[in-house]
Amino acid sequence: MEHMTYHQANRERYLDGFKAFLRIPSISTSPAHAGDVRRAAEFVAQDLAASGMEHVGLIEQAGRHPLVYADWLGAAGKPTLLLYGHYDVQPPEPLEEWLSPPFEPEVRNENIYARGACDDKGQTYILLKALEGLLRTTTRLPVNVRVLMEGEEEVGGEHIGQFVARHPERLAADAALICDTEMFAPGLPTICTGLRGIVYGELLVTGARTDLHSGVYGGAAPNPIQAIAEILASLKDRDGRIRIAGFYDRVRPPTPEERAAWARLPFDEAEFLEKEVGASCLVGPAEVPVLERLWAQPTLEVHGVRGGFTGEGAKTVIPAKALAKLSMRLVADQDPVEATTQLQAAIARVSPKGVKAEFQPIHSAAPSMMDPANRFVKAAAEALTSVFGRETVYIRSGGSIPIAGLFQKHLGIPSVLMGFGLPDDNLHAPNEKFHLPNFFNGIIVVNRYLELLG
Ligand code: BES
Ligand code: ZN
Repeated sequence: MEHMTYHQANRERYLDGFKAFLRIPSISTSPAHAGDVRRAAEFVAQDLAASGMEHVGLIEQAGRHPLVYADWLGAAGKPTLLLYGHYDVQPPEPLEEWLSPPFEPEVRNENIYARGACDDKGQTYILLKALEGLLRTTTRLPVNVRVLMEGEEEVGGEHIGQFVARHPERLAADAALICDTEMFAPGLPTICTGLRGIVYGELLVTGARTDLHSGVYGGAAPNPIQAIAEILASLKDRDGRIRIAGFYDRVRPPTPEERAAWARLPFDEAEFLEKEVGASCLVGPAEVPVLERLWAQPTLEVHGVRGGFTGEGAKTVIPAKALAKLSMRLVADQDPVEATTQLQAAIARVSPKGVKAEFQPIHSAAPSMMDPANRFVKAAAEALTSVFGRETVYIRSGGSIPIAGLFQKHLGIPSVLMGFGLPDDNLHAPNEKFHLPNFFNGIIVVNRYLELLG
C-alpha cells in the first residue's frame, strides 16, 4: 500500500502537473495550434519517461499530430493492458462565456476549470499518475502495460486508426483501458458498455453559377439555402424519426436486462431538462425512454449552416451555394459506410430541382459495445466499487470514441470504458471542469485496477 501513501503525499504535485498540462492549448482542429498539440504530446512523453516507463516516444505521421507510445512489459505471465487517452482538446469558443480563461486552469469549489479538464486531459493524467505511483514506489507494475495517447481524437482519430491497423503487433494486449467517459451521477461509479459511432460530413448545395440579385432573379432561380432547409426537413419527421430508407434496419434494440437496468438508474427527466439541456422541452419519439434515445438510437444532427449573407444589415442576394455540417450518430449494428450511402441516396431523392446536393464524409467511426461479463470489465467494476464504496452501474454513452471500435477490429481486444467525468462537466462547452475528488479517486481506482489484474 506504499503507493497509496505516495499518491496521498503527492496530491499537490499532481495538481500542479495537471495544471501545467491544461495550460497547453492543444486544440487539434486548429492549424495555428499544431505546435501546442506537439508540446502536449511531449509533455505526456516526458511524464511517462520520468515515471520509469520504457520505450517512450512520439510516433510521427507526416503532417499530423503525433501519437505517444510507451510500455513496461516486465510482468511475465501477467496480462497486458493497453492504456489510451487523448491529449488534444476542442476549441474553447465562445470565449466570452468562460468565467476564467480556458487555458488558465482555476480551482473553484473542488472543481478545476479549463478546456480539456475532463475531456480528456484530466482522465489522461489519471492514467499517468497511477503508473507513476506504482513505478516510483515498487519500480514495477503488477501487469504489462502499453500506453497509446493520441492528439486527434477530437477531429475524428483517423490517423491513429491507420497506425493500429498497420502495427497490431506493437500494440498486442489483452484489453484496453479508456478513461474518456462520464459517471452517471456524482459518487456513482460507472462503466460504459456502449458508445455510438459517428459519420460527420458536409452537405454542399450549389445552384446558379454565381450569386444573383434576388429581385431580378427571385422566383425563377434556385436557392441553395432553401434547398438545404428542405433537404434537412425531409430527412427527419417532427417526432424525430429519421427518414432515410433502411437507416433503422440494423439498429439492435437494448436487451431487456439493459432496459431494466437503465430504468433503475437515478434519472429525473425534469431535472435533466432543466439542469443539463436548458430548453423548454425534450424532443424525440415520446414512446422511447430518454436514455434509450441518447444511448441506443441513431441521430441526425445539423451543426452549422454557411451560405449567403449573414453580415450586419441587409443584402438582397440569392446565394450560388450553401453548406451544412451534418452528423449521424450510429448504434450497433449500423455500419458507417452503409449509413453514408443511405444518407447520400436519401439526399439525392429529396433534393429539390435546380440544385446539386452532395454529402461528403469528413470522418467516421463505428459504434462499439462491451460485454459486462468480460473479466477485464468485472475487475474494473471491483476497483471502482472498492474506492467509491458503491455498486458500479453499467450505462451506455451517446458520444463516440473511435479508437474503441478500432481496437476491437484490428487488435481483437475489448475496451474497458471507465470514466470519471460528471454530467455537468461541460464537455466541448464553455466552463469545462473536472471534479477534483474524481481526479484523485480516479488515480487510486486505476492503480487498484492494475493491482487487481495482476
Ligand atoms: N470523450 C468524448 C466522448 C464521450 C463524451 C464519451 C461523453 C462518453 C461521454 C470524446 O472526446 C468526444 O467528444 N468524441 C467525439 C468523437 C468524434 C469527434 C469522432 C464526439 O463524440 O463527438
Ligand atoms: Zn474525449
